[in-house]
Amino acid sequence: MGIKTLSELNPRNSKVILRCDLNVPIKDGVIGDPGRIIASLSTIKKLLEANCSIVIIAHLGRPKGEKKKDLSLAPVAEKLSELLKREVKFSTEITGVIKQALDLKPGEILMLENIRFESYETSKDESERIKLATELATYGDLYIGDGFGAVHRKHASVYELANLLPHAAGDLISAEVKVLEQLTKNPSRPYGVVLGGAKVSDKIGVISNLLDKANVIAIGGGMVFTFLAAQGKEIGKSLVEKDLIETVKELLIRAEKLGVKFLLPTDIVVAKEFLSDSEGTIVASDKIPSDQMGLDIGPESAESFASEIKLCKTVFWNGPMGVFEFSNFAQGTKVIAQALTQVEGIAVVGGGDSAAAVRKLGFEDKDFGYISTGGGASLEYLEGKELPGLVALK
Ligand code: 3PG
Repeated sequence: MGIKTLSELNPRNSKVILRCDLNVPIKDGVIGDPGRIIASLSTIKKLLEANCSIVIIAHLGRPKGEKKKDLSLAPVAEKLSELLKREVKFSTEITGVIKQALDLKPGEILMLENIRFESYETSKDESERIKLATELATYGDLYIGDGFGAVHRKHASVYELANLLPHAAGDLISAEVKVLEQLTKNPSRPYGVVLGGAKVSDKIGVISNLLDKANVIAIGGGMVFTFLAAQGKEIGKSLVEKDLIETVKELLIRAEKLGVKFLLPTDIVVAKEFLSDSEGTIVASDKIPSDQMGLDIGPESAESFASEIKLCKTVFWNGPMGVFEFSNFAQGTKVIAQALTQVEGIAVVGGGDSAAAVRKLGFEDKDFGYISTGGGASLEYLEGKELPGLVALK
């Protein structure tokens, strides 16, 4: 990828602006999964050891330029302070905090409030993004990009700001890119890809790009029903993206021509309602009753996916197999996660929901080869797209 690493830039006694992805689940001020904060610690600690001061810029949710109390980064600053066992100053202002930033002493950290409270951060108008980035650039002498989860966004603090200062990638971005390169350049075979999640529209690009790279592709989650519908099966009240049925049919034809083992579930756990206490019934995937919806892959499918996964030397997984938040529909995801822990090779859990799912289901990070912090970012990388936040760090 040719990005400059932290050790190549080797900041010492510098005023560093650090872009992190600290977009963690927060409910009533309580952080659910601090994975992304923990993943950012390596770079922060190295910068502190090098006697740098750090201004941290990050986002939370999608406030679209509005100040929203429930999307404040204040609880994140508190958590970071707890993990580092040192003070993390917090600025509710994002622009005009020049004095606070300039006054920072070596070894001090200042986190700015949610950068997306500024509408220019995500503006489609490049001149607006440059305007914000130019102001942010006055807060330091160097820029370190370490927010891997946001590198697919051409946002002011991810792209334009990097262009304005000497820059490098932090440890997290370097580690993520190294793993993704392993998945795309000459992966050990067999290479298996497991995809789930609600929407097939999010995954079409990645399936299409991986069809001629992977040996096995297994599909679960809500997106499976668009595939079953494409095969002419009755899917009852299950999720479906009708406008994608033709695209999905083409993918299935391409998979067959390329000799990819394309696994779809043979059984499904269904229920009448989408409720946490709904009881599940197992039915064959071509016999979903018209008044029921599929909420998980069935046990036979989970076992067959798992046995294929265990034979692979490289596995990438993104997206839960069912509604894992409801215990009656978590089994498919659990079986797949378990299989990934048994892979003799590299097994990568791709970001966001999948990372939260495996942690919620009681697995530990060390059980897997690698847990990526970027859902959308890792998918777009695997789609073969150019990611602005990585381009900027070249
Ligand atoms: C993520 O959660 O995937 C990243 O933080 C990016 O967030 P976004 O999809 O709102 O840009």
